[in-house]
Amino acid sequence: MSEMASTDPEGIDGVRMTWNAWPRTKVEASKCVIPLAAVISPIRPHPEIPTLPYSPLRCKTCSAVLNPFCRVDFAAKIWICPFCFQRNHFPPHYAMISDTNLPGELYPNYTTVQYSLPLSANPNSASAFDSLPASSATPAPVFLFVLDTCMIEEEMAFVKSALRRAIGLLPENALVGFVSYGTQVQVHELGFSDMSKVYVFRGNKEIGKDQILEQLGLGVPGRRPALAAGGYQPKAVQNGFPGSGIDRFLLPASECEYTLNSVLDELQTDQWPVPPGSRASRCTGVALSVASGLLGACLPGTGARIITLVGGPCTEGPGSIISKDMSDPVRSHKDLDKDAAPYFKKAVKFYDSLAKQLVSQGHVLDVFASALDQVGVAEMKVAIEKTGGLVVLSESFGHSVFKDSFKRVFEEGEQSLGLCFNGTLEINCSKDIKIQGIIGPCTSLEKKGPAVADTVVGEGNTTEWKMCGLDKSTCLTVFFDLSASDRSNTPGAVNPQLYLQFLTRYQNTDGQMMLRVTTVTRAWIETAVSTEELVQGFDQETAAVVMARKTSLKMESEESFDATRWLDRTLIRLCSKFGDYRKDDPSSFTLNPCFSLFPQFMFNLRRSQFVQVFNNSPDETAYFRMVLNRENVTNAAVMIQPSLMAYSFNSVPRPVLLDVASIAADQILLLDSYFSIVIFHGMTIAQWRNMGYQNQPEHAAFSQLLQAPHADAQIIIQERFPVPRLVVCDQHGSQARFLLAKLNPSATYNNAHEMAVGSDIIFTDDVSLQVFFEHLQRLAVQS
Ligand SMILES: *[C@@H]1O[C@H](CO)[C@@H](O)[C@H](O)[C@H]1NC(C)=O
Ligand SMILES: *[C@@H]1O[C@H](CO)[C@@H](O)[C@H](O)[C@H]1NC(C)=O
Ligand SMILES: *[C@@H]1O[C@H](CO)[C@@H](O)[C@H](O)[C@H]1NC(C)=O
Ligand SMILES: *[C@@H]1O[C@H](CO)[C@@H](O)[C@H](O)[C@H]1NC(C)=O
Ligand SMILES: *[C@@H]1O[C@H](CO)[C@@H](O)[C@H](O)[C@H]1NC(C)=O
Ligand SMILES: [Zn+2]
Repeated sequence: MSEMASTDPEGIDGVRMTWNAWPRTKVEASKCVIPLAAVISPIRPHPEIPTLPYSPLRCKTCSAVLNPFCRVDFAAKIWICPFCFQRNHFPPHYAMISDTNLPGELYPNYTTVQYSLPLSANPNSASAFDSLPASSATPAPVFLFVLDTCMIEEEMAFVKSALRRAIGLLPENALVGFVSYGTQVQVHELGFSDMSKVYVFRGNKEIGKDQILEQLGLGVPGRRPALAAGGYQPKAVQNGFPGSGIDRFLLPASECEYTLNSVLDELQTDQWPVPPGSRASRCTGVALSVASGLLGACLPGTGARIITLVGGPCTEGPGSIISKDMSDPVRSHKDLDKDAAPYFKKAVKFYDSLAKQLVSQGHVLDVFASALDQVGVAEMKVAIEKTGGLVVLSESFGHSVFKDSFKRVFEEGEQSLGLCFNGTLEINCSKDIKIQGIIGPCTSLEKKGPAVADTVVGEGNTTEWKMCGLDKSTCLTVFFDLSASDRSNTPGAVNPQLYLQFLTRYQNTDGQMMLRVTTVTRAWIETAVSTEELVQGFDQETAAVVMARKTSLKMESEESFDATRWLDRTLIRLCSKFGDYRKDDPSSFTLNPCFSLFPQFMFNLRRSQFVQVFNNSPDETAYFRMVLNRENVTNAAVMIQPSLMAYSFNSVPRPVLLDVASIAADQILLLDSYFSIVIFHGMTIAQWRNMGYQNQPEHAAFSQLLQAPHADAQIIIQERFPVPRLVVCDQHGSQARFLLAKLNPSATYNNAHEMAVGSDIIFTDDVSLQVFFEHLQRLAVQS
């Protein structure tokens, strides 16, 4: 663990695997209990990754890209593909190649390289590029804001000010559009500066794509060949064409900033009367249909984001999640379980078809939801996740969780999220490796091939995925399987190494098309012979994160799935297989250090918001899961098992056990559970602070002690998206529950007499970690 923390565990490749040595057969793999999976960060920046200004060479049989694992015959100018063993001739322009004159992609340590794809001269690229003049080669980013107006004045003021700030931060060439909605949808035409022109759509019924275009005066699709082609239309971007929406609805920020700000000045909260006891009539679904139709007509195939700001539940038209009657509460997890949420399935179906439309257009749906009640993030999840959208949930548009997160979306430089567009991921793998699917922000492109597994996990049935939106922290989890064939019968084909190649094509923040190629290799092992190698290759942190993602997926997709029971059985099987013990003797049980952290991860996962969903709303659960699925392993591990640091006079800040026993009157704790950060003052510290000791010169050390956790919290807050909620509290204060809920209840009211003075107890019947371990050992050694 210390080794993992000190070095970059992902290295240049941004790949971590549950197992770093793979068993040879499907049967052996299933005995490993934890699935074969890779967590990949497809476009994570790394200073050592070279960018090559040309197109890659691909194997003529399997189309894998030339990489350092290819065997090269310099004399014959031939390379052998490690995936399919095809011999490929180097093209003439590689004639200079020798073992002392290697192209970048063959350097042994460049297992990840980027190709910046030359737009006009690339024979492999889409034909749309052929006519593309070099000057317009880099498309501008596109932001279509969709703003809910059914909110109180105070919230409206907050959200307007956030929008104004965002508009001020946009690059000058960014194309901007604006849609507002409440009972109806208003599409604002920004092409006129002296007269604001608005197109209104009724919010109470589903509206077809053609009808949207007709009403916006964008003509009937098909009549204009340019649009019917459905491809990228550089000319339209450059000049606009008659009747095009580009010059009316989507304008460069530099040209429409003034108009947009005056539209915001004049914009009122929805004026439709809301009878007492009723919810506002809010047509989020129709608004998003209109936004999607507008982008589809103006910029199909060009990266664009629909940035939605929602202040409450959809109650009108498609996508509704609840009736307008206030006495009818918004669905809970219990309702979903009992199938007593009459709007849920229909709304999910609506968002699923919206997702399909957006993916086919290459557009992203971002949702910023700020409300005390739920707004329907659980229903919208499919469209956000499949398009690679961002999601932030907060209580108010005035809260720092929203304000600071929203600002980050538009910031450039070091603070930038590195938002990229139009990504596709392809995976190639050695023979006998099958891909089950991906959990994370992407959509299957349903490209079948020999590497597609029969069983599907997440987005499966394919070797290629679309990522309409992706950024530098985007992570995906790929699940693998092995083919059932018995390889011992195929002599000769025994390669001791397996290979995986991840090819990510995307449009970077400058609009340039890039192709990142990561090729990784791992050893095949005969588990019967060498279990030690298998054990040494186990990555506990990655395994915990993969289990959390798989559990969440199963809870969402399998009816009456018992997550706790499944996790327990998985853990017991793992301990039975890899533990050292005498049968039926629990006291003899020990676990190799390569596995020793894993049971505690599972203990915390069982207690986490991902499994104990009943403490949260379905919106919160959907939100937590979307972020869990898209973050890197380190961050996801903190969501499962928060980190806890202690600050006291007699030592430097130090990590302490996530246990109620870590509470002490004379120290401060800093808990990082990813979505929130808690600074917790022990009783004595709180008393001294209340007496103002920190303001007295002779107590400078106390003042420093008080500040230290705040400074550390700020460092975490600054680099995290969504921005976490900061809770500052005292022992026995009402907010202390934010800490206590995450601690191991080693001391409860059942054993209060054993406690140290100054510590705390937790009122719970949850089992403690110790009891959990005892049960585990007993069950693992059972014959
Ligand atoms: C790879 O090797 C080259 C040349 O030896 C060196 O300049 C570069 O820093 C190395 N990169 C990595 C990621 O180790
Ligand atoms: C988007 O990606 C697809 C597939 O890689 C490509 O064919 C298309 O030309 C790209 N569009 C733009 C605008 O770069
Ligand atoms: C590699 O990927 C390409 C494109 O997805 C596919 O056609 C080919 O069959 C794959 N080859 C292997 C060995 O997986
Ligand atoms: C996968 O593809 C097969 C055949 O094309 C189809 O029958 C099956 O329903 C698909 N499964 C999923 C989960 O999409
Ligand atoms: C994970 O992401 C955080 C930013 O959110 C970053 O600081 C950290 O370095 C990443 N970890 C790895 C191993 O890439
Ligand atoms: Zn090949």
